[in-house]
Amino acid sequence: MWVRAARALRALRRAVLLLPLVLTALALLLLPRPPPLEPAARAPSSAPHPPLPPARPEQHLQNFITETDEETLNREGDEISRRPWYMRGGEQRPWFHDANAKVFPEDAPGDDRIVHQLMYTLPKNEDVPLKKILLANGLGAWGVSGGRTEFIRNKCPVDRCLLTADSRDAATADAILFKDHHTPFNVKRPINQIWILYYLECPYHTASLRPSSLDVFNWTSTYRRDSDIVAPYERWVYHDSLITERDLDRNYAANKTKKVAWFVSNCHARNRRLQYARQLSKYIQVDIYGACGSHHCPRTDPNCLEMLDKEYKFYLAFENSNCRDYVTEKFFVNGLQHNVLPIVMGARASEYAAVAPHNSYVHVEEFAGAEELAAYLHRLDEDDDLYNSYFKWKGTGEFINTYFFCRVCAMVHANERRQRNAHYSDVQAWWREAACTRGEWRAMTSDSKDNG
Ligand SMILES: *[C@@H]1O[C@H](CO)[C@@H](O)[C@H](O)[C@H]1NC(C)=O
Ligand SMILES: *[C@@H]1O[C@H](CO)[C@@H](O)[C@H](O)[C@H]1NC(C)=O
Repeated sequence: MWVRAARALRALRRAVLLLPLVLTALALLLLPRPPPLEPAARAPSSAPHPPLPPARPEQHLQNFITETDEETLNREGDEISRRPWYMRGGEQRPWFHDANAKVFPEDAPGDDRIVHQLMYTLPKNEDVPLKKILLANGLGAWGVSGGRTEFIRNKCPVDRCLLTADSRDAATADAILFKDHHTPFNVKRPINQIWILYYLECPYHTASLRPSSLDVFNWTSTYRRDSDIVAPYERWVYHDSLITERDLDRNYAANKTKKVAWFVSNCHARNRRLQYARQLSKYIQVDIYGACGSHHCPRTDPNCLEMLDKEYKFYLAFENSNCRDYVTEKFFVNGLQHNVLPIVMGARASEYAAVAPHNSYVHVEEFAGAEELAAYLHRLDEDDDLYNSYFKWKGTGEFINTYFFCRVCAMVHANERRQRNAHYSDVQAWWREAACTRGEWRAMTSDSKDNG
């Protein structure tokens, strides 16, 4: 009797203990599951990687102040590997699908969205069909191989794509990428096929499209930041967006005896940069190397650029055209990647500010004219601290590979959840209207405005 009572009591206790479990199981069965795409619901439980802070590529580093050297070293190694995968030494890859990722222009007006596209990934554990991307100008025009090589080799977070150059694929491709021209295929266009127009050069140096080709494109890909897939000449990314300056461990003015240098071969640029440089040379020493000047140093000679590092204080990073967002390697490579201060002409001052490292250049339109600019350069020449303040950005970030085809693949997949169809009703108007000016931006009137 006592035994039976004790057994009954145990059974009762077990049932009471089990009750919450049973209820939880029931609840799990009956409640609607969280949508599989919701990052907040998925992230903590299903993360296959240690829980790094999620995709905030430019803001995830801290500034540690008091540490021993060894701790600092460890910390630095740690910090580097915690950088996103597209940075040197970075290992952080997107580990959940973010349905709200800002990849399309309407998601983040004014932003080039490049880092968001690079950190976009597909839902895990889902069979995602391959997207076929046809390169209308052939594989050679892009320097890529067909098939999936480009996506696998670059370890793209979205690699479910294949490249083809076979025109027979025009009938079935998910996207067609046209470079500089529209070369029509003789097949019916599937309704969901995305047509992308890519331009490398500025409007002055791209051919006009036929009238019948104006309203056929869904996306553009150019250096312009309002393109759907922005393809800049270089892309600067800070290691920590809050740290844009570092203390310098050298004097960038040391040993420099010369003032302004310029390497240039096209003497007839539309923005009259040569006239400006000649004007400038009335007030400060300007050494013009190449066809338009009296100094010579063959392009292929590495000593020319070394000379820039060691002897000159300033470099004229003048583009051949003043066009919206048009900033090329003349600035990023010849200028920023040497120990010389670039003087820029090309895009608007605000457009340089959007893509350049903090305080890394001087824009000609910050001054009333060449004489005022020269006066400021003389001041910089005399004040080493002021001159050096333009180099404090060095080491705070890096120029990244923007993995163009990874992003094309990501975008073609992301389009499935886009809320709208997109197409340019006149892609030439978008590309050319008010895009360039023959004179200065601040003087831009309907007369000087140039439709390329
Ligand atoms: C300047 O020249 C001196 C003597 O030749 C040299 O020791 C020093 O490293 C140079 N400084 C820079 C920044 O190049
Ligand atoms: C692409 O553009 C065409 C018109 O040029 C349009 O009919 C189609 O809906 C667009 N597709 C997408 C996916 O936006």
